[in-house]
Amino acid sequence: MIKKVTKDFKNLNGEIIIPPDKSISHRAVIFASLANGKSIIKNFSDGQDPKSTLNIFKHLGVDIEIQKNATIIINSKAKLLPPTQNLDCGNSGTSMRLIAGVLARQKFNSVLIGDQSLSKRPMKRIIEPLTLMGAHIESPNYTAPLKIKGQKLHAIHYNSPKASAQVKSCILLAGLGAEGGKTIISEPFLSRNHTEIMLKYMGANIEVSENTVSIEKSELTPIDIEICGDISSAAYFIAAALIVPKSNIILKKVGLNPTRTGILDILKQMGADIKIIDEYEICGEKVGTLQIKYSQLNGCEISGEIIPRLIDEIPILAVIATQANGKTLIKDALELRNKESDRITSVVTELKKLGANIEETQDGMIIEGKTPLMGDCEVKTYHDHRLAMSLYVAGLICKKEILIKNFQWVNISFPTFEKLFESLKK
Ligand code: S3P
Repeated sequence: MIKKVTKDFKNLNGEIIIPPDKSISHRAVIFASLANGKSIIKNFSDGQDPKSTLNIFKHLGVDIEIQKNATIIINSKAKLLPPTQNLDCGNSGTSMRLIAGVLARQKFNSVLIGDQSLSKRPMKRIIEPLTLMGAHIESPNYTAPLKIKGQKLHAIHYNSPKASAQVKSCILLAGLGAEGGKTIISEPFLSRNHTEIMLKYMGANIEVSENTVSIEKSELTPIDIEICGDISSAAYFIAAALIVPKSNIILKKVGLNPTRTGILDILKQMGADIKIIDEYEICGEKVGTLQIKYSQLNGCEISGEIIPRLIDEIPILAVIATQANGKTLIKDALELRNKESDRITSVVTELKKLGANIEETQDGMIIEGKTPLMGDCEVKTYHDHRLAMSLYVAGLICKKEILIKNFQWVNISFPTFEKLFESLKK
């Protein structure tokens, strides 16, 4: 599907509710399926990725009822059944990496498969630690499909070379059923901690100390949760309001977990007018309302410890940086090359077509601003939802229309993306 984006509006104004968080939606289904009893998950994400996770647990024999109002009821006996088919993670790295940690310790065998993009993504990062725990996983060159021979696992102490919530969560989910004491995982910098928060809330024996988490074999109690809005989805509206002159918008129900708010810290440093109007907590997760106004921005350096706190927002930060005065340097972000696309090459290539002054480096990019974006061209999405959404936002400020090829990738995380943008266009 080709999407035409034109500057056919004056500014962005109004109020929207940000749709549910993808990372928390995955975890709610996985953990509720492992708990004993009835869990109620309200405001479940309508993105394709969390649906892939949900379908996998249906195939593992869990009683899952999907109600009309985005509510999911899970009645689980804390026991999974052998699947009768391969388990399809679609485009979702989170599904594959987290669920592998659960399946590795079952009494049955299973196969995790994914689409063309997911089948190229690295799985060594989970296969290695799971194998140290006693898991048997066969895979072509450490990529999907993952053929998992269920085994009893034993606890390990693991120093992860990467700050990755998917790796951390995979090991914690394996450790939740492992014998032999505490499974301990340390990471170089703190990655998103939704797993730790939700497992603790559901009664797991889990302890956190700075960048180290330990877990012991535990039973989970069911959960009743309303999932907050996804700050990674909010990021596109924040960006658009900051770069479209005279914009002023309010975003409600935005998840404000500090391990995810790197984008707010960087934008404030760049001079953005962003206010947190109110703040509250749901099941241990911070949530709030944001007001964002058009701002004059300055370039900055984005590197080091903050990278895991904004890793998914780098494509849209690159778009913003084209409209900031001076140089923005993004480094220490080699991990971007392992996402749904190689987000260093894809972002730089496509933003260049629009007229941005942007150069690729080995572990990031350099953007010189402020540069007017011309448009009048066709851009590609590389099977990557975040690229599709970032290019749409760039299109809002291009002098001439742009055509985004295969825009439907947006449905992976955000099917109502365009509808919400339309509601803000004045
Ligand atoms: C996610 C973790 C991050 C992030 C991804 C979602 C999660 O990946 O990029 O979109 O829900 O745990 P990594 O763990 O590979 O950094």
